[in-house]
Amino acid sequence: MIAGVVLAGGKGVRMKSSLPKLFHNLLGKPIIRYVLDNLSELKLNKTILVIPPNQEGDFRKVVEDLETKKDQKIEIVYVFQEEPLGTGDALRRAMPELEGFDTVLVVNGDAPLITDEIFKGLLDSYRDDVSAVVLSTILDDPMHYGRVIKNKDGNVIKIVEAKDASEEEREIKEVNTGAYCFSVEDLKAAIEKIDNNNAQEEYYITQLVEILNRMGKKVISCQTDLGSLALGINSRLDLALATRKLLQEKLERLMDEGVTIVSPENTYIEIDVSVGKDTVIEPFSVLKGSTVVGERCIIGPSTYLLNAYIGNECEIFYSVIKNSKIESNVRVGPFAHIRDGTHIKSHSAIGDFVEVKKSTIGSYTKALHLSYLGDAEIGEKVNIGAGTITCNYDGKTKHKTTIEDEAFIGSNTCLRAPIKIGRGAITGAGSVVLKDVEPGTTVVGVPARPIERKPKEEGGKSE
Ligand code: UD1
Ligand code: CA
Repeated sequence: MIAGVVLAGGKGVRMKSSLPKLFHNLLGKPIIRYVLDNLSELKLNKTILVIPPNQEGDFRKVVEDLETKKDQKIEIVYVFQEEPLGTGDALRRAMPELEGFDTVLVVNGDAPLITDEIFKGLLDSYRDDVSAVVLSTILDDPMHYGRVIKNKDGNVIKIVEAKDASEEEREIKEVNTGAYCFSVEDLKAAIEKIDNNNAQEEYYITQLVEILNRMGKKVISCQTDLGSLALGINSRLDLALATRKLLQEKLERLMDEGVTIVSPENTYIEIDVSVGKDTVIEPFSVLKGSTVVGERCIIGPSTYLLNAYIGNECEIFYSVIKNSKIESNVRVGPFAHIRDGTHIKSHSAIGDFVEVKKSTIGSYTKALHLSYLGDAEIGEKVNIGAGTITCNYDGKTKHKTTIEDEAFIGSNTCLRAPIKIGRGAITGAGSVVLKDVEPGTTVVGVPARPIERKPKEEGGKSE
């Protein structure tokens, strides 16, 4: 039986942030979420997360769906490290949860780029005759990382933190990645012996290597080929470099799948975004969160999509869309702002300087210029003239506007909500509509009143 322990206590002082380090956003996911996603691929029998006591709620939020996922479900147990006394102390907190397990995989919570494949390699290199395996890598510049010291047989006898290393030790290029595999039985005996007699006065997990050696046990290393970045996110610079690496990989994956990215160096697409084939992403576009873009779309230039669903064959040009659904064959922009809770149905068009909030826009409807549509339910084949405003707010509450199919809203109409414009009704240019308009009726003026006119004679086309 194999358990996993994620060390997620600690302060993360080098980030200089009021947000705990492991919750910082890395291409759309918190750092810690990468580590847990990677571990979930390993099908461990249990995953123990060592966290500061006041962060339980935040951690639970981040992993919620992982615990209920069907094929990738992982069982997470929380244990608390009251004070950040070091990585060795953090592991000690997890020991009671390891009862009944033979082997434990321990990983730093700040290493989002160590993949599940690498973890698998570490587990595979664990053998019956060793007490521990240290995942290590070779760095030209080993910086502040712990040095892996070996004897002539190639076994690991010690890990020395850079701050405690002698000049000679500091020359060693094999470093500790912060991922280990231990025999639980030997770990139980060794962990009691960790002390904090070192430069940082912390309990180091790395001291276990020396202790196990003293107990006559064998420790080996599993060398992997990782850049320094993959070892840990400690600073804002590390975060930016990790983002760049993951972003590059994400864009390459999308291009592989048939998406044109005109200027990869000027495109930001977060990790969970999906884009259909033959879609073109023009420069300076930002696609975030759970955004889904269909096939044969043109997105951008300079478009911002957050948790947006975009159907097939849409053109979204210089626009912002947040938490909204756009069906197929829709044109948006330039300079449109589609806000939360909007649903734009197929073949419709939203043009320049149009803001839409929490509204439904029916198929083949057009709102092409300078309008505000908020809390509106707009039917099919409606024409919204330039400058139309839904006056949805009376200073206290928001009210709904309903515009039925084939209505024609003349330029500069103000619709004071709550209000309903009936099917095929017309409002004259500049009208201020205070009362519901019956289907097929034409209203004009301030305040708007019905006039006798055949619907077809009123107003020009808005395009
Ligand atoms: C650690 C290793 C170092 C290795 C490096 C790889 C030690 C002593 N050193 O250094 O050999 O080269 O990782 O990245 O382990 N944490 C706790 N409780 C604490 C302190 C830390 O849970 O009291 C957690 C942190 O949240 C973090 C992880 O342990 O996720 C590593 O801690 P960090 O302080 O970043 O260790 P490094 O100095 O990077
Ligand atoms: Ca670290």
